Amino acid sequence: MNSRPETDPADNPLDRVLVLEMVRVTEAAAVAASKLIGRGDEKAADAAAVEAMRKAFDTLYMDGTVVIGEGERDEAPMLFIGEKVGGAPGRGPKIDIALDPLEGTTITAKAGPNSLAVLAAAAEGCLLNAPDVYMDKLAVGPGYPAGIIDLAKTPTENVTAVAEAKGVKPSDIIVCVLDRPRHSELIAELRSIGCGVVLIGDGDVAGVIAVTDEDTTIDMYMGQGGAPEGVLAAAALRCVGGQFNGRLVFRNDDEKARAAKWGIEDLDRIYTRDDLVKGDCIFAATGVTSGSLLEGVKYRRNGTMTTESVVMRASSGTVRWIKGEHKVG
Ligand code: FBP
Repeated sequence: MNSRPETDPADNPLDRVLVLEMVRVTEAAAVAASKLIGRGDEKAADAAAVEAMRKAFDTLYMDGTVVIGEGERDEAPMLFIGEKVGGAPGRGPKIDIALDPLEGTTITAKAGPNSLAVLAAAAEGCLLNAPDVYMDKLAVGPGYPAGIIDLAKTPTENVTAVAEAKGVKPSDIIVCVLDRPRHSELIAELRSIGCGVVLIGDGDVAGVIAVTDEDTTIDMYMGQGGAPEGVLAAAALRCVGGQFNGRLVFRNDDEKARAAKWGIEDLDRIYTRDDLVKGDCIFAATGVTSGSLLEGVKYRRNGTMTTESVVMRASSGTVRWIKGEHKVG
């Protein structure tokens, strides 16, 4: 499960997309949102990122379709699910896109850490069309035996399995969790076995990806967050390794109806990383505010600004860190 996914190079539409160009799209969204860091206006920050990302897509040679976006057509003016993006409709390679132009709207409004502009791209039909509901998430970094984590098991069982494989005690395991009242039992259980719990205020795409970077000291990610963010994080893990389990959480009939609309029949299914993202994929992100994954947009006194981005590809396993210096427009 930690090895890189096999893809068929003979028929890979991502070969016809300029991988590095994806960074232009996340950079544009991050720069637009950065002007609203700390301004207390979540909606304005999100709208700025969405508009900039929408425009930047048009510069790419592809026939893209948003499969995870800002919402359904009647709730989002731009980058809604099903919207066509890209500068070559009907001609370019057919690519499905999962995106979040501003992952961490509240973080941005409050100038907190870890907000990102993020997207994942894969061949048509390769990303789960996740409804905008919650998802139970469980993740661990690369280097562990396949199937070491299992959402059907308790948090204690999962921590114990990872600790054994790592050769440490459960109390040495560090788990990242979103700081929400709904996680009080989970946090109490983890602390009762001595785990370190890193509580984050928002931004679980970065939270999940943190398990892949030893410098964060985070071993595992647990808890409920947005399902679209789950697919985006799974795409990153598919590129760099690491295991992921996700199970959709439905709070009412309306949310169940959303799932039916996207063809999801088994409401209790536990999705692995490779159920959520199949084949080759690209993951790109640019920091809006600085965090564990990326530096945020910084304005310099000399009239320039700097960005930091990462772009990864599953089939090659290549991870590129890109620092940009831009003239403030
Ligand atoms: P937004 O950018 O949409 O505000 O999402 C931020 C986020 O923290 C996600 O990273 C996470 O998946 C989700 O919100 C958690 O939802 P909630 O705030 O309802 O607990």
